[in-house]
Amino acid sequence: MKINKIAVFDSGMGGLGTFKLLATTKLCKELIYYADNKNVPYGEKTKDDLIKMCQNSVDYLSKFDVDIIIFACNTASSVVKYLKSNIEILPISDYTIRGIASFKNSNNALIAATRAMLNSGLYQEACKNNNIEADFISPIDFVPIVESMQFSDSASLFNKYFPKNSYDYVVFACTHYPFLKNEFANYFKNAKLIDPAEILLQHLLNTYEEQDSFPILNFKASKDVDILKTFYERIKDA
Ligand code: DGL
Repeated sequence: MKINKIAVFDSGMGGLGTFKLLATTKLCKELIYYADNKNVPYGEKTKDDLIKMCQNSVDYLSKFDVDIIIFACNTASSVVKYLKSNIEILPISDYTIRGIASFKNSNNALIAATRAMLNSGLYQEACKNNNIEADFISPIDFVPIVESMQFSDSASLFNKYFPKNSYDYVVFACTHYPFLKNEFANYFKNAKLIDPAEILLQHLLNTYEEQDSFPILNFKASKDVDILKTFYERIKDA
């Protein structure tokens, strides 16, 4: 089966990591990126607010005749079950959970996610189901740092958020954090870093047939679309 149009949705820039991976494949004819950057960060919102904002985003994207909406935002994924949609929604959280399951029985893992995501309890449950002992930490400055493209500013904050730096596994359970991959790798020297976007990509490549050419890229935003394009230009070859 082939897919014509995929929409990738995030609160802000985070999902551009997933979008970038998809743009290097021929999985669809058109790839749309939509950021609800009027409301970023989602990580500090209540569940009810998240449901409203995500429902608005799904309603908006349903006008573009897309086949699949990828919720490339863990925090938004936590409310997918409350949304109404005629279009299939693929939440990144399913792939974060697969990433967690890949180190079953570990007693030394770190799950880094937003506060709203951790409030949902989804990843705590995934760890429990896989007999994993993990620390769950929310480095709340990291999303604004990524939004403003000042990636190296995060380096001095690792000590503050993560008193321990010797983990076996570190999960990027927020799609903004992989943009700080160098800083994470530098601090967590012995950890395996897990990026759920790569697991999602593999799933799509295993499930769908490819088209004949690379997709047309389209950017949309609830507030500022130019900033998305600037960000994408900066990270697309990194
Ligand atoms: N990128 C989002 C996630 O994966 C959250 C960022 C935000 O707080 O808006 O959870």
